[in-house]
Amino acid sequence: MDHFLYRDGALFAEDVAIADIAAAVGTPFYVYSTATLLRHFHLFDEALGGMDHLVCYAMKANSNQAVLRTLAQAGAGMDVVSGGEYLRAKAAGVPGDKIVFSGVGKTAAEIRLALEGGIRQFNVESEPEMIVLDATARAMGVTAPISIRVNPDVDAKTHAKIATGKSENKFGIPIARAREVYAMAAAMEGLQIIGIDVHIGSQLTDLEPYRLAYQKVAELTEILRADGHTITRLDLGGGLGIPYARSNEAPPLPTDYGKIVRETLGHLDCEIEIEPGRLIAGNAGLMVSEVIYVKEGEGREFLILDGAMNDLIRPAMYDAHHDIIPVVEPAPGTEQSPIDIVGPVCESGDTFAKQRLMPPLSAGDLVAFRSAGAYGAVMASEYNSRPMIPEVLVHGDQFAVIRARPTFDEMINRDTIPSWL
Ligand code: LLP
Repeated sequence: MDHFLYRDGALFAEDVAIADIAAAVGTPFYVYSTATLLRHFHLFDEALGGMDHLVCYAMKANSNQAVLRTLAQAGAGMDVVSGGEYLRAKAAGVPGDKIVFSGVGKTAAEIRLALEGGIRQFNVESEPEMIVLDATARAMGVTAPISIRVNPDVDAKTHAKIATGKSENKFGIPIARAREVYAMAAAMEGLQIIGIDVHIGSQLTDLEPYRLAYQKVAELTEILRADGHTITRLDLGGGLGIPYARSNEAPPLPTDYGKIVRETLGHLDCEIEIEPGRLIAGNAGLMVSEVIYVKEGEGREFLILDGAMNDLIRPAMYDAHHDIIPVVEPAPGTEQSPIDIVGPVCESGDTFAKQRLMPPLSAGDLVAFRSAGAYGAVMASEYNSRPMIPEVLVHGDQFAVIRARPTFDEMINRDTIPSWL
């Protein structure tokens, strides 16, 4: 459920008309709903109720400072994957002991940054990384709290580019080698073993892969404890999917996910940590765009928008579906016809949807891409020298620009000319 609904024929974000935001900031833009962000965070928090737990929002999904602060104030921790994300989380007011550092290639500089600023734990992904972490911590005279990310070799049944839990993926340490690597870690003076970490992929629409992975984590916990390690925390990753096509998708609910966590891991007396990104931010955001032209092609029509693949790359990159709805609600019974919805970038890949059924639209009309709050703005670029589009946050009947659109001069002047030119 989200807070983007039609009222008297006009699309609203909470109590603000989308058309009013468009008039104030121009198109295209991203708009996020505070109430939806908070609703999704609380759904997870409640789904794990009764267990000692922390929801660490995977901020790669949407790392705008205002979004982070909204969630941090509700009690969320953060899952970060770079020094930049770590500093963003700190800047949004998240204390170090609520920040988890994930990612396959943490550099010594990033590790130092986190050890200086405070960290809940590092999720270690390889032996070479463990060696650097140990050396960095010892050089600083501190101990680094760690979980080791194990790769459970489970098929997450999601898009190949966002599956991470198969042995062929670059992530984690094969679960079969976990005992050996934990023994190595235990012998390193700069490290303190806290727990186990696992993350099998993103946009999972089936809970069974979670059950399989978490059963393996439960077995491993017992084995490692028998080996003498102290395992008090289990980081279960993120990845729960959202409905992108409202008409025919019904992904599992956080409550059902919580049930699986309780069933597979509840008996271990561990603190549970989860890292949802998409499920918190995805359906809390729209990308709003204006129709520039309707073009008659050879046997098909094209709806040419002012938003493009550089603003929202998911359709081009993952063949992802986003529902696209008109900002003015069509009258009941309006006939729909198939049309290709494209952006102005000079690539055929700049296609948002092919032969999508849409009501009649013309130049100047606004459309909204649903489910664009996660992996939208954060993956945008200025390809074709199109300035990054602004982000807006709605809170009840208020809205604020939370990242402004740069001017053309700002965009151009980011480049510098060497002395010989
Ligand atoms: N934890 C780790 C270690 C991750 O790598 C990820 C996502 C998450 C948590 C959060 O997963 P989520 O709950 O958001 O599914 N750009 C792609 C998604 C990439 C996901 C990468 N890792 C997309 O637009 O679909």
